[in-house]
Amino acid sequence: MNSFAVINREDITYERTDPDKTQSRGFTWDLDEDDVIYGLGETMGGMDKRGRTFVSYNTDDSHHRPDMPSMYGSHNFFIVEGKSSHFGIFVDSPARVTFSFDDIKKGQVYVLVESPDVAIYTIVEDNAYQITRTFLKMIGPSFAPPLWAFGFGQSRWGYKNKRDINRVIRGYKNANLPLDYVCLDIDYMDRYIDFTVNKKRFPDMASFVEEKKNEGIHLVPIVDAGVKVEPGDQTYDEGVRYNYFCRNEKGKFFKAAVWPGMTHFPDFFRENVRRWFGGRYKALTDLGFEGFWNDMNEPAIFYGENSKQQSFLDMVLDFFLPSRGEKKEGAKSNAYEEYEHFYHVIGGIEVCHHDVHNLYGAQMMKASGEGLKQLLDKRYLLFSRSSYIGAHRYGGIWTGDNSSTFFMLRQNLIHMASLNMCGFIYSGADTGGFGGNCTKELLLRWLALSDFTPLMRDHSAIATRKQECYAFGDPEDFRKVLSLRYRLIPYIYSEFMKARANCDMYMMPLSFGYPGDEKARRIEDQLLVGEGVMIAPIMKEGALSRKVYLPEEMMEVRYNGNGFRQEVCPAGERVVKVPLHEVVFYIRKNKAIVVSNKGVQNTGQLNLYDVVKLGYDVPYDQYLDDGITPVA
Ligand code: NOJ
Repeated sequence: MNSFAVINREDITYERTDPDKTQSRGFTWDLDEDDVIYGLGETMGGMDKRGRTFVSYNTDDSHHRPDMPSMYGSHNFFIVEGKSSHFGIFVDSPARVTFSFDDIKKGQVYVLVESPDVAIYTIVEDNAYQITRTFLKMIGPSFAPPLWAFGFGQSRWGYKNKRDINRVIRGYKNANLPLDYVCLDIDYMDRYIDFTVNKKRFPDMASFVEEKKNEGIHLVPIVDAGVKVEPGDQTYDEGVRYNYFCRNEKGKFFKAAVWPGMTHFPDFFRENVRRWFGGRYKALTDLGFEGFWNDMNEPAIFYGENSKQQSFLDMVLDFFLPSRGEKKEGAKSNAYEEYEHFYHVIGGIEVCHHDVHNLYGAQMMKASGEGLKQLLDKRYLLFSRSSYIGAHRYGGIWTGDNSSTFFMLRQNLIHMASLNMCGFIYSGADTGGFGGNCTKELLLRWLALSDFTPLMRDHSAIATRKQECYAFGDPEDFRKVLSLRYRLIPYIYSEFMKARANCDMYMMPLSFGYPGDEKARRIEDQLLVGEGVMIAPIMKEGALSRKVYLPEEMMEVRYNGNGFRQEVCPAGERVVKVPLHEVVFYIRKNKAIVVSNKGVQNTGQLNLYDVVKLGYDVPYDQYLDDGITPVA
């Protein structure tokens, strides 16, 4: 078995991939008939990836089709598990990598790396869970978010000003619904310029942030990767003056359009650039912000000097009318052709962006994480759209522009398993879906899953139906389902922090907890959460019941907004009825969990010591701290 230190990409020298791909490297592994393939983090499809081909090449394509080969992040770790196969493979390359699992080459795993710059690590252990544990130890522990980051967050692209934000907070308060943070999307900025605030919309941001904190609400602003070409703006001026931006093949600063119009891209691969950009968050931490989301960092490029110009309206129409976007050749919005004209300087060598594309977002996360660590004397919240293996040490991720469909709800559950395998234990999806119109039923069912995901945020796109929990008439059902989250936080937080300290998973496929159980190996719609819980959410439209597989005797827990009803259930299959306003979950045999004694309106009111035990009559080892002091 291989063992290796935490990956340090800066130590690697780069060579330009030749266009004929003669420098590509292919690798194969034989598969047995019964082998199942897990992993690859943020990819579409089932928990078992066999029969499909995936391409690690970060994209911002928001049409999450079932057969889409790439997403926002590249997480090149997979496991082959069967009667006699038990091995994990990590393909560490910043270039484009194709993974064919019994597809291009039948009966084989075929991996094509479009660069000679690759290291392959093989891990052999007794089972998939042990393989994952070894991998997680190799890549190191996750960043530790503050306790408030485990509360519920509301977000929407389209909250424009102080009035909109206040309206949302009031909406939650008046409906007696808990809330910990509200995200500020691009509209808080002055013309989408990073590290600025639109003074008309937010006349005194510092006192607004302070006022909200006193109400128990954190505000979480977005930061985009592209820096607007705007002489007079501090970030732009410093970037130009100190040569911090990427250049094109002619030696000029590379220029391409994102939300603010033409932008330059910080060369995050350089240490001094990361230090500078991370330090720029001071403009926001000085205003009192303690949480951030990094966006458009694949990086997304609408068009550039070498591609066809598209208007802002074009981009928005492509987004809302998928058929329009899909008719175009290739990717909808990422102007990939631009990557060939975009250069980094890594270790003094000029490197084409295409060759290191998959690492760009991760390097931005590193810049932000390291900067925030310096700027704040407490833990920060950070989640990013793009990522690569190892970036979990700096922040979490969310799974981008999903849609308001039951299909994407199921995908969310699968993503949680595969992302946890790759270290991203602080993750979650846009609850309720980003694109499209959410229904009351979908949001309630989605909340019942998100109740257990560390990042729990309702986020939606402009021009979609309002998706706040108070926006569907009588909020009573939402109050019930959302209040469960706050009862569960003592357990969720404790299990997350323990998983982090031990380089373990927080959520995992059922089969990982029950190796050798053939039935568990085929279950794609249930998860284990921490050491003691199994969830089996309802993820079908119109369904009021579902089949659940219990690999062993378990305690069924039913929460109806007031209290918990427990019942011991025998191993095997059972059909469980779950009305929209209830959540059912399971406690594993001879395990206990702790839940808050009372419901609260935000984590500031939560007393982690005031808990009651559920489950079997055994002790629970609760992790406790103040939820804010940085941890090693
Ligand atoms: C794309 C992100 O994925 C989405 O969450 C955000 O609302 C928009 N950019 C606008 O900033």
